[in-house]
Amino acid sequence: MLIIGNQKDYLPRFEDVMSVANTVAKLRTKHEVVLAPSHVHLSLLRSKKKALPLAAQDVSVFEHGAHTGEISATTLRDSGVSYVIIGHSERRSQGEDSHVIATKLSQVLRANLSAVLCIGESSRDAHGGYLSLLREQITSALSGVSEKEFRSIVIAYEPVWAIGKSSDEAIDREQLEETMLYIRKIIKEELGEKAYKSIRILYGGSVAPENIEGLLLEDLDGFLVGRGSTSPSTFKELIQAV
Ligand code: PGA
Repeated sequence: MLIIGNQKDYLPRFEDVMSVANTVAKLRTKHEVVLAPSHVHLSLLRSKKKALPLAAQDVSVFEHGAHTGEISATTLRDSGVSYVIIGHSERRSQGEDSHVIATKLSQVLRANLSAVLCIGESSRDAHGGYLSLLREQITSALSGVSEKEFRSIVIAYEPVWAIGKSSDEAIDREQLEETMLYIRKIIKEELGEKAYKSIRILYGGSVAPENIEGLLLEDLDGFLVGRGSTSPSTFKELIQAV
């Protein structure tokens, strides 16, 4: 399984990022555990922990060049990053639309990195209207992706209503099972068999040691963990429970 720790801007002190990284490095696990600290901590972490896979939390829409304050996909690659999170709801709420997200995704693929595309509804309605939103989020970002690039795509299903809550407010197993089936169906219908077989799907939203076992589904490829990845002991417990 793929477990990505999205540390957001929770850990301003590098020593706290290092504590989590040291704990992860000592774990014997068959899972791929990836850390996504803030941009400024990425290359520092790379210099201290050569073998730990890293993800960036965002990327520029531009190629490198005269873009003050931006960080391009090629710069991220040079910092030792393998994955880039795109379209997180906390970025969408800052105004990132589907065009921006599709552009970022193509920058990531062009730099030969893997993209973690976040999708998810803000709320659920009784008639299942949120399902069309998921379809739209998937197709608008991925319809331009070529067949050979599908293996570099990971979709993180993160219902916005379940992010940053307590463990008992996360999605329940039945809801996750249903939504996973639906997401796989959209991928098959809209992007074809190759995409269906290659694209990995993660769940994110208040994943904690207390609820992770209940969320382990056969066709789920892993988790995107926010707050739970900011404490060494919690992250360790969580990984060991998978
Ligand atoms: P959370 O965040 O685990 O703190 O809910 C998940 C995310 O936003 O990626």
